[in-house]
Amino acid sequence: MEINFVETLYATSLRFMYLTIMIITMKSNKKFLITIDGPAGAGKTTVSKMLARKLGYNYIDTGALYRGIAYEVFKKNITAEDEKNLKKICENINLEFKNVGEEQYLFSDNKDIEPFIRTEEISMLASAVSAKPFVRKALLKLQRDLGSKKCAVFEGRDMGTVVFPNADIKFFLEASVEERVARRYKQLANTSEQSLEDIKNQIIKRDRNDSQRKLAPLKPAEDAIIIDSTKMSAEEVIEFMISFIFG
Ligand code: DC
Repeated sequence: MEINFVETLYATSLRFMYLTIMIITMKSNKKFLITIDGPAGAGKTTVSKMLARKLGYNYIDTGALYRGIAYEVFKKNITAEDEKNLKKICENINLEFKNVGEEQYLFSDNKDIEPFIRTEEISMLASAVSAKPFVRKALLKLQRDLGSKKCAVFEGRDMGTVVFPNADIKFFLEASVEERVARRYKQLANTSEQSLEDIKNQIIKRDRNDSQRKLAPLKPAEDAIIIDSTKMSAEEVIEFMISFIFG
């Protein structure tokens, strides 16, 4: 009983603090930033898009940027270990998001590359290139510039820890491996013939790559709100986030 009271008081004061910050930042024209980090298949994309739409914020999928670099690597038929050519790609790449209706597409040198960057091959390559410090450096400025334009929801792996350590609200979305594999399988059902087992192995490998790399590993920021979405629908996660944001 006593613990419940203390917990409720703590949660209420946190909410009050966030609400105050929100009002102050809105008044001072500062861009309000919400970050959603987490492993592959935890539901970040669905939830981030829905949350951004509800709040009227920009939605930025930073994983797409790593996929953009991976796509250029794939096109040039090199590997993530070919640092000389990978550096050249990073120096010359010109990535840009364009909104088409409610959807957001990634363009590289003015070419829509969205149809090519969502395969599992590109997912693995994106994870491999993302461990390279110069790749992360090349994307850091671009991500921060995007954050200075409009209030936004950023999804990724290191949004709350590295790219926006001062973000206004940080969420870390996770789910059991089984649930994430099932979600990914369903998502890929129309475009890929991969078995559940293949997808599970890829997710486990990507989790390991993303969380064990030296630079900006996947992990919750110390001040992130951790949400386990294993048994939650996207709507329930959104409801929780909104109630957390607005108290
Ligand atoms: O979110 P996603 O699955 O589209 O991301 C693809 C890969 O990009 C992911 O395995 C690791 C990398 N990534 C990253 O290192 N940092 C980010 N902020 C976003 C993605």
